[in-house]
Amino acid sequence: MAASGWLKFKWQHWSTLPELRLKLVVTLNESVLRNFNAKNYRIWSDLKYGSTSDVVKMIASTSCCIKPAQITYSIRGIWSSSRSFDGWRTHLSSTLFRPELCFEALQMISQKLNDTLTLTGPGTEAGGVMRCYWQPAALTDELAGNRPVVPVKLLGEDLVLFRDSDGKLGLIGRSCPHRGADLCFGRLEDNGVRCPFHGWHFNREGQCVEQPGEPEGSTMHEKIKNVSYPVMEKNGIIFAYMGPGAPPEFPNFDCFRAPETHVFAFKGLWECNWLQAMEVGIDPAHASFLHRFLQDENPEDSYGKQFRDKAADTDIPMTKLLRDYPRPDISVEQMDYGVRIVALRHLDNEKTHVRITNQIFPAAISIPMSREMIITQWHVPVDDETCYWYSMFTSFDKPVDKALMREQRLKEHTLPDYAPIKNKRNNYGFNAEEQACETYTGMGLDINVHDQWAVESPGRIFDRTKEHLGKTDVAIAKYRRMMRAAIASVKAGTTEDLPMLNGVNAAQVFGPISNDTIGDNATWQQAFEKSDQERRAACKGWDATI
Ligand code: FES
Ligand SMILES: [Fe+2]
Repeated sequence: MAASGWLKFKWQHWSTLPELRLKLVVTLNESVLRNFNAKNYRIWSDLKYGSTSDVVKMIASTSCCIKPAQITYSIRGIWSSSRSFDGWRTHLSSTLFRPELCFEALQMISQKLNDTLTLTGPGTEAGGVMRCYWQPAALTDELAGNRPVVPVKLLGEDLVLFRDSDGKLGLIGRSCPHRGADLCFGRLEDNGVRCPFHGWHFNREGQCVEQPGEPEGSTMHEKIKNVSYPVMEKNGIIFAYMGPGAPPEFPNFDCFRAPETHVFAFKGLWECNWLQAMEVGIDPAHASFLHRFLQDENPEDSYGKQFRDKAADTDIPMTKLLRDYPRPDISVEQMDYGVRIVALRHLDNEKTHVRITNQIFPAAISIPMSREMIITQWHVPVDDETCYWYSMFTSFDKPVDKALMREQRLKEHTLPDYAPIKNKRNNYGFNAEEQACETYTGMGLDINVHDQWAVESPGRIFDRTKEHLGKTDVAIAKYRRMMRAAIASVKAGTTEDLPMLNGVNAAQVFGPISNDTIGDNATWQQAFEKSDQERRAACKGWDATI
């Protein structure tokens, strides 16, 4: 239990059908009591519990009483589980019932904790976790020219990425170990990079192999080693491993399993900390507002765009469904790769729209884009105040039309930085008339611009001591707990709380399932799993079965 050690829970329950009454007594231990300030806690106004397969709704009243050493929380609800009433006592003591979420999620964040979660330079806590995983460093496209050398700034470190004459990649420190000149201006020759200042030459492992100005016969170069990191190219993205020891295996995610023809990769620069960028991706509630289109486009024109397809197997445009059902019922489930996020929108006709998205630890998400494609997106710190999103668009149907997708996105970005043309310096293209009649933001039809405004406008590193998380932020709260546990693991020198590194066989980590489905209210769980299996079975271009 995430909160164990500082809060102790005891359920006192009594009930007669069909009404359910529960009382939760939270006893605060001494260390909490010393710092306890009731103002720092908010309590959910109601509670829900269950796994994604068994949701129980608590309706009716709740009340909360905070005394110096105890919080008593009373709930009255209507039993509406598919499970038998006799089984409910067992559930209350099981892990399915997670009362700790209610409290810890709403604990206000201190400045210290905000720093812990957001800063990723060398020696930082979250940076230590990030360095245990492969991180996107560049697009393959960036090395396509005649001189394949590009500067890379990643996790606050200045590096140079190049392809040597063997066609192999090297990622080494940008500052020359001699007197610091910028190796991005290096001469790409003799199967490495040569510093133009005094001619020192470095191979792809960062080893200095020649110092042409030093005395004849000098072996000093043998002792000169630049920083260097392993790199691996996967379907259009060059990943770097900047951590200790041997790099981990890549998981068997769809974006890595699919052939190169079925994956398109792109990136974009956002002027904010990586965490707020990622948190927009694990917040299914915002789609009903931030990405609202007041009029629906013909879904036939939706290729390569998000939220513009029809919803699941219906003729309802996704835009209409998001607009008409703005209060999703969101739950989270810890998975071997991170967190599965289930957003249910209960429709009028006894049907439920299910949207499955994912947090892939530590800094990626996986979401559906259309019936044909999913997006796997990393949010990678350049430094603490800037990040790149890197997306892999994976098709379960036809090969991806890369030329069209690239053209769509290059219209919105400038090279070589992949910086968005709409940005805070031009008010993201805000147009009041458009906001009145066409889009919720008034910032055009490209949803990336909406997200960009949402993550950049809180400031470069959002001051989370001022935030107020709601119930729909449950995945954000869950993720932060996981990051804190991962940080503790790294500090303790273990991998226990490092998803995919904690003894799980990466080759057996598939998916993750990312889709939109409509099912009957009672069987939505089976509906999304079935729809995922059908899509995989129908995939002709590659073996997508799990
Ligand atoms: S600074 Fe690079 S060789 Fe002298
Ligand atoms: Fe969004």
